[in-house]
Amino acid sequence: MSLHDRWIEERHHEHYYKLAKKMNYRSRASFKIMQMDDRFGIFKEGDSVVDLGAAPGGWLQVAKERVGESGKVIGVDLRPIKPMEGVVTIVGDITDDNTMLELLEKFGGKADVVLSDMAPNIAGAYATDHARSINLCMFAVNVCDRVLKKDGILVMKVFMGDMFPSLRRELEKRFQSVKVHSPDASRPTSSEVYVISKGFLAKNTIEPKPIVKEEKKKEFTKKGDLI
Ligand SMILES: C[S@@+](CC[C@H](N)C(=O)[O-])C[C@H]1O[C@@H](n2cnc3c(N)ncnc32)[C@H](O)[C@@H]1O
Repeated sequence: MSLHDRWIEERHHEHYYKLAKKMNYRSRASFKIMQMDDRFGIFKEGDSVVDLGAAPGGWLQVAKERVGESGKVIGVDLRPIKPMEGVVTIVGDITDDNTMLELLEKFGGKADVVLSDMAPNIAGAYATDHARSINLCMFAVNVCDRVLKKDGILVMKVFMGDMFPSLRRELEKRFQSVKVHSPDASRPTSSEVYVISKGFLAKNTIEPKPIVKEEKKKEFTKKGDLI
């Protein structure tokens, strides 16, 4: 990155960081979902929203504000999310079937909107980070296959790369429209983009990935007896 790019990036980071602090948002990411909602019309009053990769909760705050009292919002993350009024949270890995079961149980019903700002732990090797990001996106798509209402919306972060066309094909099989967008609040030099997919088709020819409930591991005493 050139010095100039770094300067731009730092100014940008600082601008949204200060704004988030001033407006009491938990992360700068809040502005990304606000900007996307303003541009693409994601939330409606009363909507039910599932947010994947939700910690520390910046998107949850915006979702709750915009769906209002009558709306329903649930967030899932590997990391705990500080309690937020009117929002249910789950600590878990969405690639783990037990987390998926907990989500289905706690959410109970269908969603108007699925959000995913999930990001893998950055390995620094671009191909690895990209492949992990695509994998997380496929799990977000799987959540849509299970909980999204017909005509529902998916907003999802992806690190761009050569596997993106195959992800896009999966989205195009399921949604009427698929748009790639980079909100102003994203870092200017970042490879992350957001995919806004609208008009979920809820095809009955697409089977969600089967859920395999993990058996609790058997535990033994020192003598080898089963506990
Ligand atoms: C960029 S942060 C999300 C920021 C959030 N949208 C906000 O506004 O505060 C990405 C999150 O994805 C979560 N994440 C990554 N892999 C995940 C997985 N397999 N299951 C659940 N959450 C995951 C990370 O723990 C991290 O908190």
